[in-house]
Amino acid sequence: MDVTKRWPVWPEAVGRDLDPTVQSFKDILDGLAVLYQNPFIRDVRDTVLAYPDSALGIALNKKQTACKKWLVEELARACGPELGTIHILAGWYGLLGAMLLAEKQLQVEKLTVVDVDPSCEEVALSLNATHAKTGRFAFACHDIYALDYSALPDGLTRPDIIVNTSCEHLAAFDDWYARLPDGVTLVLQSNNYVVIPEHVNCVESLEAFKRQAPMSELLFAGQLELEKYTRFMLIGRK
Ligand SMILES: C[S@@+](CC[C@H](N)C(=O)[O-])C[C@H]1O[C@@H](n2cnc3c(N)ncnc32)[C@H](O)[C@@H]1O
Repeated sequence: MDVTKRWPVWPEAVGRDLDPTVQSFKDILDGLAVLYQNPFIRDVRDTVLAYPDSALGIALNKKQTACKKWLVEELARACGPELGTIHILAGWYGLLGAMLLAEKQLQVEKLTVVDVDPSCEEVALSLNATHAKTGRFAFACHDIYALDYSALPDGLTRPDIIVNTSCEHLAAFDDWYARLPDGVTLVLQSNNYVVIPEHVNCVESLEAFKRQAPMSELLFAGQLELEKYTRFMLIGRK
């Protein structure tokens, strides 16, 4: 039997010769993609090969995936499977988008990553290629401080859920938070990892995070102890 009839064997991502180490990483990702029949692993493979100078190694490290897996699980528990339209703000390469869209038991109508850094766009679209093709994933380049939810720019519709896992990066957190619509479902993560220069808005504890992001209804509050820092998460309605 032709192997492609039994399992999907995806086309090669690149035609060029690869350095032996890169070739072996590619072969491993190919093998895992076929083993788990998982288009996300194929999208990771293609993205790593196409954007070797990006920060994908950091964006997909085990701490990042652990924090986002925690978010996916707690969001499903807090809000149920029908999630509607989601904005992931300051969403970097859209790893969380790919993870949410890959969950077969969750119903996500449309998910948009908003980030101010235009270099994230191509990488995010590649990492989410499976869902970008169906129109369920999009990237929008905006400064989230400038987003006005009563008059959103073209291409963005009012979301059911706003996610921001980069709260530690927001120096003007209070201004940003004040402009979010009342009642919207929020999923927020921050941390106490103060040694990173870009972390200009760390919080020292879960209680401090709750004070920074007051919710009219708190659905979940928790913390995840990682090797060098603690990540905090709040899910609720503003
Ligand atoms: C290092 S990354 C993400 C870190 C976070 N822990 C995570 O995994 O989601 C921080 C992202 O925030 C984005 N960002 C920072 N300030 C922003 C702003 N004002 N508007 C939109 N994106 C912003 C950056 O461009 C970057 O992609």
